[in-house]
Amino acid sequence: MTTHRISAYRTAEAALRSPHLKQALYDAGAVVMADVLLTLHGAEHAARRAVEVRVFRRNFLRHYARDVYPQTLEATLAPFIAAGGADLIELGYRATANLTADFAGIDRPEQTAQETEALIRLVKKFSEGATMVHSTRSKAVLEAEVLEALAEFDVRFCRPSVARRLAILESGQADALPRDVLSVILEARDELPIGDAELCREMAFYMQAGAHSTANAMVHGFHELSNWAAGSAERAARLHDPVFIQRAVHESLRLHPASPEAWRTATDAIALPGAETIAIGDRVELDLYLANRDVSVFGAEADRFDPDRSVPEGVLPSGLSFGIGLHACLGRELDGGTLVRPGTDPDSHQYGIVAMLIARLFELGARTDATDPPTPDAKTSRPNWGRYPVRFAAL
Ligand code: HEM
Repeated sequence: MTTHRISAYRTAEAALRSPHLKQALYDAGAVVMADVLLTLHGAEHAARRAVEVRVFRRNFLRHYARDVYPQTLEATLAPFIAAGGADLIELGYRATANLTADFAGIDRPEQTAQETEALIRLVKKFSEGATMVHSTRSKAVLEAEVLEALAEFDVRFCRPSVARRLAILESGQADALPRDVLSVILEARDELPIGDAELCREMAFYMQAGAHSTANAMVHGFHELSNWAAGSAERAARLHDPVFIQRAVHESLRLHPASPEAWRTATDAIALPGAETIAIGDRVELDLYLANRDVSVFGAEADRFDPDRSVPEGVLPSGLSFGIGLHACLGRELDGGTLVRPGTDPDSHQYGIVAMLIARLFELGARTDATDPPTPDAKTSRPNWGRYPVRFAAL
């Protein structure tokens, strides 16, 4: 078995689109990631994705982002506003836990801060388990913690959410089902059977896939934009333009992909443009961090944060950060919004949850405090922030 490291953008893009390369990054995190959408392959993956994608239709995303989420966000922000500041990591998780639970189909019957905290604690454990391959902690200890978290999640959140939806289905009122991934899976259970443990892992996957990456994207985006605007009144004025913030979020996502690597195993021998031949069973490691900084695509200053950057036709401003091809992120438009085109109406445009969050932070005058600077996350070798305290200067 040979390992091929790929860091050229075009080769990485072709690899992500290849049906002969199977997900491999989460093999070490199988305790929570076995048989979830992201790790399924071929026909099984296509069948499950075809069911789950129904939740992510554009009209629904627009309705959710414009009519549902702003209220959730304000309720989340209220205690931080009262305190005059926040740790952006904590705020990010709180602001996104409800979002991902809504899309996954995890009910929160108590609607209390303690319930949200319990969910976040579990989701953080699932994230740590999923990215076990990059963990600096003991694998055995982490695996035991993840199993315990899964058991708690199952009893407290998964089973009651399943039971409520099954009762609605059995009463013949499918129209009354909430619109979420769990509902569509249960509705399709005759054509696509799924066991209880697998269903619980699928819910756990959605919770952590959405929450962790959204919270990270928010903090990186805020950090890049704050640095970019520091000391320039002209630049600072642009921090109140949502179109600009959305574009900047994509640029920041390009520089800071939530998954800096994608790993695949070859199920057949294949040739990728610009790479040596890949034999069956070989591992392909895609360095998305470097691919997103490929000078042949993003120019000589590819490493620089430039929110006014233009990208070649057919390349997303966020590069490969939402994946592409077979496993392309289903939450891309929800979090990143739809791309601005000439003639886009700013009043009805879908800016995406990350830009909405950052825009609100700038409205509140969020800025770092020199006496309590941000610190990196010591629990992982991934380049994430562990704490990011800010004060709300506009209050
Ligand atoms: C800024 C936020 C996000 C980023 C950067 C992100 C990134 C990604 C990436 C890179 C992949 C593909 C991984 C691979 O090919 O190995 C992916 C897949 C996925 N994402 Fe996201 N994601 C984000 C938010 C979300 C949200 C909010 C949801 C759901 C509510 C979501 C749901 C999914 C799902 C279901 C998949 C698996 C698709 C499949 O395997 O067919 N993501 N995401």
